[in-house]
Amino acid sequence: MPGPDVVTAVAYPNIALVKYWGKRDERLVLPCADSLSMTLDVFPTTTHVQLTPHAQDIVIVDGVTAQGEMARRITSFLDLVRKRARSKRCARVETRNTVPVGAGLASSASGFAALALAAATAYGLPTEPKELSRLARRGSGSAARSVFGGFVIWHAGSPDAPDPDRSSYAEPLTSACTDLALVAVLVDTGPKPIPSREAMRRTVATSPLFPDWLMQTRHDMTVMRRALAQGDITTVGEIAERNALGMHETMAGAVPPVRYLTPASHRVLEEVCRLRDQGVGAWATVDAGPNIKVLCSGGDAEQVAVRLRELSRRPAVVARSGPGAALYGTQR
Ligand code: PMV
Repeated sequence: MPGPDVVTAVAYPNIALVKYWGKRDERLVLPCADSLSMTLDVFPTTTHVQLTPHAQDIVIVDGVTAQGEMARRITSFLDLVRKRARSKRCARVETRNTVPVGAGLASSASGFAALALAAATAYGLPTEPKELSRLARRGSGSAARSVFGGFVIWHAGSPDAPDPDRSSYAEPLTSACTDLALVAVLVDTGPKPIPSREAMRRTVATSPLFPDWLMQTRHDMTVMRRALAQGDITTVGEIAERNALGMHETMAGAVPPVRYLTPASHRVLEEVCRLRDQGVGAWATVDAGPNIKVLCSGGDAEQVAVRLRELSRRPAVVARSGPGAALYGTQR
């Protein structure tokens, strides 16, 4: 589609090492706790936004006109941008992902980070990164983190702040873990059984394990930040794995239970334990889907990928630290 008035932005997914699971404000997408992630250098989303004279937004995702919930989410995000920009103009949005959407592969993070940057630019809103991360957050919480490259912390913000919306944004973190890789095992790329938004709401409302998980996650954040600063990859891996599995146990405590892990996911998780028993530093993390991501050093990544491909007979993609959202042809 690119043409003279088209703004194009690219953003990459991020994988949380300390997870975001639970909102304290649904409308403003304010999380219950801070979270921390690594932006990847694989699976980018490219989004074009063009203002049009039409009376309706046109939204095309992966070559197909978006329908239902997906179209509604993108259009309400554009409504927010229009409100801030005091504009009534509709837009044509065309977005292309490089992984299947809705499979727990963080496509909503890369998707809304790219859309936030392209739409903010097209409508003339400020694109200063902190502002952009606050805007992207409204599309999908984890998108706040994909505005930045490398390691990123998303501050939950203070409920007592005069404007809580302003206090919740992401920013980059410096880390001495310069050689961390992540092997994504694509166990199943079909759509997840329940959207993360609904699963999160149900967990907060019904899981008796949620308050404990929240307390643990706050503690994990302190230890994770220290480990990243010291370049202690073993502690980073151990905390990331425990935090992710704790999140899944907390979901399983919801009524009715939320279960994203499949027997194939569990086989990969067991193999990661076996790798560790054999002296390879490898730790698993998993999001709202069955796909397992394995943290390890860059030097071990190929060996880990080969083992997990053999076991699962599924693709395993090696990712490293990637860049923040950028306008086409520019770097952030
Ligand atoms: O941004 P959402 O609403 O898709 O939620 C993402 C939640 C997890 O991916 C499971 C965890 C995280 O911190 O990214």
